[in-house]
Amino acid sequence: MDVSFRCADLSRAMPGVGDPGTDSHWLSVGGGPTVEAMSTLALSLNNGVVMPALGFGVFQTPPDETTDAVAAALATGYRLIDTAAAYANERGVGEAIRESGLARDEVFIETKIWISDYGYDRTLHAFEKSARKLGVDRIDLLLLHQALPGAFATTLDAYRALERLAQEGRVRAIGVSNFMPAHLDTLLAETEIVPAVNQIEVHPYFTQPELQAVGAAHGIVTQAWSPIGGITSYRGRGGTSTFDDPTIRGIAERHGKSAAQVMLRWHLQEGRSAIPKSVKPDRIVENFDVFDFTLSAQELHRIDALDRGVRGGPEPEAITLEAFGRDIPEE
Ligand SMILES: NC(=O)c1ccc[n+]([C@@H]2O[C@H](COP(=O)([O-])OP(=O)(O)OC[C@H]3O[C@@H](n4cnc5c(N)ncnc54)[C@H](OP(=O)(O)O)[C@@H]3O)[C@@H](O)[C@H]2O)c1
Repeated sequence: MDVSFRCADLSRAMPGVGDPGTDSHWLSVGGGPTVEAMSTLALSLNNGVVMPALGFGVFQTPPDETTDAVAAALATGYRLIDTAAAYANERGVGEAIRESGLARDEVFIETKIWISDYGYDRTLHAFEKSARKLGVDRIDLLLLHQALPGAFATTLDAYRALERLAQEGRVRAIGVSNFMPAHLDTLLAETEIVPAVNQIEVHPYFTQPELQAVGAAHGIVTQAWSPIGGITSYRGRGGTSTFDDPTIRGIAERHGKSAAQVMLRWHLQEGRSAIPKSVKPDRIVENFDVFDFTLSAQELHRIDALDRGVRGGPEPEAITLEAFGRDIPEE
């Protein structure tokens, strides 16, 4: 089956998903089921920028393994890389992109400002630090990594710096991460540019439906972190991880796919961006091989119903500089 056709089909089914007929290099499908064509499933952000829906994350990827992991991802066909100043591996991401032979505008680079760099001037400077480590002039999507609920004025100043960077064309889109509805409400009331993305924890055991709905109501794309429930495994508290969930495994078996592939397909069909991480070449390929099957509405509902409402990551309200602050080095 023609992959470009399937992407177009899917885009009609998903609000917010880019129409492969409208142009952009992300969407220029070539006709055959090539890796390039498979990577073109895209989301239109609220400012018209087009972002690949499926990306590659590098949280906890050691700096000395980052270049190899990102190189493997780019060779597989991923065209969105998600990093963060706090991951201490932006340099490796930039190196892999430069060495890939891909043109700069063929890869969508996303990074995040850490809370220790919030405040208008500090955040402008933090952009310079990230851009320098990545080795780029322009970042495609720049996020605030967390709200600082106890210092929200500083958070707003950081966001205003992102707005300035967007206005100057230094970043193509701006957004937030781990913002809860109350944080979004204040942000929307106090600033000019509606965030393009809210990157939040979403996997079958924790789906935050109300928060996703608030985002959708404002045209904010939900991007799922820990999309295959990695956090239920590496920070699991002894319970079942999403990888071993009997419902997900049953659906996976029916489609001849893995649990991870089913979870990624679930995100894409529900209109979310997803950024799975791996340092293992076979898993990097596996996590991108999700464009040749479709989950039924009933299967999507069965996965939705697995939500336990228990967060794996830190409570967004509990983020403070005292507990989570750390210096982001200049180089
Ligand atoms: N904004 C935030 O606060 C925030 C927080 C967390 C994560 N993130 C972003 O989201 C990305 C993904 O989240 P995540 O790393 O927490 O979790 P994830 O992508 O859901 O899962 C990654 C974990 O699962 C393993 N894994 C990967 N593919 C697998 C497969 N096919 N089968 C079995 N195991 C597999 C990985 O180990 P191996 O590497 O050994 O394969 C790793 O331990 C991060 O890298 C980061 O970019 C953002």
